[in-house]
Amino acid sequence: MTIPNTIKTITCIGAGYVGGPTMAVIAQKCPHIKVNVVDINPDRIAAWNDSNLNSLPVYEPGLAEVVEEARGRNLFFSTEIDDGIREAEMIFISVNTPTKDYGLGKGMAADLKYVELCARQIARVAESDKIVVEKSTLPVRTAESIRTILEAEGNGQQFKVLSNPEFLAEGTAIADLYAPDRVLIGGEQDEEGQKSIQALADIYANWVNRENIITTRLWSSELSKLTANAFLAQRISSINAISALCEKTGADVDEIARAIGADTRIGSKFLKSSVGFGGSCFQKDILNLVYLCRHFNLPEVADYWEQVVKMNDYQKHRFAKQIIDSLFNSVSGKKIAFLGWAFKKDTNDTRESAAIYVAKELMLDKAEIHVFDPKVTKERIVEDLKNVAASKAEFKAMKKLIHFHDEPYPAMNEAHAIAILTEWDEFKTYDWSSIYNNMLKPAFVFDGRNILNSAKMDELGFRYKGVGK
Ligand code: NAD
Ligand code: UDX
Repeated sequence: MTIPNTIKTITCIGAGYVGGPTMAVIAQKCPHIKVNVVDINPDRIAAWNDSNLNSLPVYEPGLAEVVEEARGRNLFFSTEIDDGIREAEMIFISVNTPTKDYGLGKGMAADLKYVELCARQIARVAESDKIVVEKSTLPVRTAESIRTILEAEGNGQQFKVLSNPEFLAEGTAIADLYAPDRVLIGGEQDEEGQKSIQALADIYANWVNRENIITTRLWSSELSKLTANAFLAQRISSINAISALCEKTGADVDEIARAIGADTRIGSKFLKSSVGFGGSCFQKDILNLVYLCRHFNLPEVADYWEQVVKMNDYQKHRFAKQIIDSLFNSVSGKKIAFLGWAFKKDTNDTRESAAIYVAKELMLDKAEIHVFDPKVTKERIVEDLKNVAASKAEFKAMKKLIHFHDEPYPAMNEAHAIAILTEWDEFKTYDWSSIYNNMLKPAFVFDGRNILNSAKMDELGFRYKGVGK
């Protein structure tokens, strides 16, 4: 197989939250490499090409500047997938791998249909040897399936498959890509496999220290990604489990997090108790891990990890229930302001956001929900509710109860309660005294992110309730 000493052209299939920012940073840091980002979704590609940088499909601090620098120079967004495949020596697959919603493994396994389609397209179209890089998060041993498809469907070209999972977190994607804790590359142990690993490592070495580029076998790399997300999410479920006990006992969960996080063996990060983790990765990847464990007949291991997701569901439910209980056991006809809808601050992504589930539970009790989020569109919120509605009738009922605001203060005027679902920094700067004056009394605040000062809020007259307090 021909493996060039230096890669000159790469193509990434999938222009989403990972493909877009990752390739933009590679293009910025490697002006000598031509970077094509291709996608089947023409609207997404048009948005990436929009001259108005506020219209990029992904909101990430610093992303617009990177795109502005590299786009049209050596970074190109296009729907011409076949051309991108033909031109590149290295092809990244960065398409979505959602939880399967049909058939075998429904609700647990990762749906690999988009990855498989990519592999078939690469095999069909390639006119020269290619290094194919798994950037999407995949179950362990997927590379084997990709290789089988490439070999069976190809026209005699040779392929090497690498695993290069992405560890960026949304909201800090650019900072994470600039200075990753590590870059992980898994490949085969033969000479061509090792040469392929080196070709990819050389790209990252343009800005990442070689010591931070870890190389492993293929299966270890694939499984490391699922394991990393499972460990991170486990920390949140662990502290959230303790938050429930804090609420019963008078201990304060933030003080506990500080106390235990000071132990260097535990560490201080990812100990922030909250209304529950969201995002497109944690739940999906843990369920996938659970499915794999069951598949390999390891029910105890599967149950152990599944509990992380169950605890998260419990946390979202507990938050909604606390609102209903506090508002005298009914929220019917009551105005509840939602500050934030995104699954975390500094992103417009709402996938699996706790806000969606809390809103649904309150609306089932007939609450009027008034949402303000600085980056999330009304259309997105409606789509989120549609996705979680049990029936058309339920969706219709929810649409009647949800209201959208472009400004924060009208969302809270004459509200019975405010629920903070996302930790946007601007929420801390609001004039809470005038908000209090314009609310119905008693004025409740349920802080699902513990971002406000509880003593100050009490002083202003609010009935303030944080998570684990
Ligand atoms: P996304 O949904 O934002 O983007 C995926 C893109 O792939 C979409 O634009 C879609 O149109 C495109 N696509 C799907 N099938 C295609 C095909 N056959 N040809 C061309 N384009 C196609 O998803 P994402 O958040 O970027 O995630 C991508 C992968 O990266 C997933 O496996 C995810 O688990 C993983 N990941 C995500 C994050 C994150 O923070 N979002 C972090 C690390 C890893
Ligand atoms: C995660 C992983 O962090 C990242 O490495 C991986 O590549 C993709 O999945 P992401 O989902 O984008 O990233 O964001 P993350 O910062 O991990 O937050 C996930 C959720 O956990 C958010 O809803 C966040 O608010 C919540 N969270 C995070 C907490 O509730 N408490 C914490 O201490 C940290």
